[in-house]
Amino acid sequence: MREQFLLADDIIFLNHGSFGAIPRPVMKALQQWQEEVEKDPVYFNIWRWVEELEKVRQRLASFVGTEPSNLAFIENSTFGANTVANSLPLGEGDQVIITDWEYGACLKAWQYYSEQKGYDIHTVQMPSVFETEEELLAPLFEAISERTKVIFISHIFSPTGVIFPVKKLASFARQQGILTVIDGAHAPGQIDLNLEELGADFYFGNCHKWMLSARGAAFLYVRKEHQHLIKPPVISWGTDWESPHPVRFVAELEMQGTRDYTTFLTVGNALDFLQANDWQAVLLKAKKLISFFSQGLMDIFASGPLTHNLDFFGQMYAYPLPEDTDTEDLYRFLYQKNKIQVPITKVVGRSFVRASFQSYNEQKDYEALLMALRKYYGL
Ligand SMILES: Cc1ncc(COP(=O)(O)O)c(C=O)c1O
Repeated sequence: MREQFLLADDIIFLNHGSFGAIPRPVMKALQQWQEEVEKDPVYFNIWRWVEELEKVRQRLASFVGTEPSNLAFIENSTFGANTVANSLPLGEGDQVIITDWEYGACLKAWQYYSEQKGYDIHTVQMPSVFETEEELLAPLFEAISERTKVIFISHIFSPTGVIFPVKKLASFARQQGILTVIDGAHAPGQIDLNLEELGADFYFGNCHKWMLSARGAAFLYVRKEHQHLIKPPVISWGTDWESPHPVRFVAELEMQGTRDYTTFLTVGNALDFLQANDWQAVLLKAKKLISFFSQGLMDIFASGPLTHNLDFFGQMYAYPLPEDTDTEDLYRFLYQKNKIQVPITKVVGRSFVRASFQSYNEQKDYEALLMALRKYYGL
């Protein structure tokens, strides 16, 4: 599988999570789309993209379990967080609940709009160790008050790789009249998604991480009853009578002046790649490797894992590092001295080694990382 990717031979690449990595067939498809545009840029940019993107939207919709008309293509998850935070009718006295494991860029969007609109952000502390979904849900349920209007949370947390039980949260929040906004940056392709069953009100996710599309492809899902709320960050031709899409929020988000639609179009090629390469088997292999890696880490570090329950992980796994770890020094040691590309994440005073488990990774990659960690800590 490694030869299907363009990764350099001399690097042990254990950070698919940050920016993805594009398989050769998807890269080739991207270049072909770009050449297609150049055959007649006017025809492509006025008409053809509309029909091509519609085909891709249909496929993406069935992949993530919703109707095509609930999905707009956007460039990345950060754009999704900004769009929703800007659109919701929140003001003085309202409260948005988030957790202390959220991704910084999205958090900044909520903070920015909190200053503009006057709502408060209440940050819930996630447990330092846990074994059940209930332990992850409890601090959120306890934090809810009459002022809570929105819960914003990641489906898969960036620093820890933990998969959050979104369905249970969304159903509880709905009963209380609270909106759920889910940051699914890491979810599509990493876990099976059915947005209708999940029940969130707003959900954005990246296609350019675990679905393997070209970079700059993501989606925003909005339940029908909230679609009228969405305000596009860029005002353009989307509201015009010649709009390319009958659903207003879709047209408004997708039309932003001259832009490159080819990355969105590679979502179809990425789905072809997943189908051609038995992705269920890839996910199973990831589970086995996570089990191997987590055992190896427990043998090295007496401090223990975040959870022993490996059902909480899909294709990323994070393990807490000793308290006094100099994260930058460790990263440099792993990358510069050992050619291992792996992030050392930091969250509320703790640091973690967070490895990715992509189709191109093998057990020897994790053996190399374990050996390097032993060497670094002298264990
Ligand atoms: C949980 C989470 N949300 C949002 C993002 C931002 O994604 P993007 O850079 O595609 O906007 C990331 C990026 O890694 C992430 O981990």
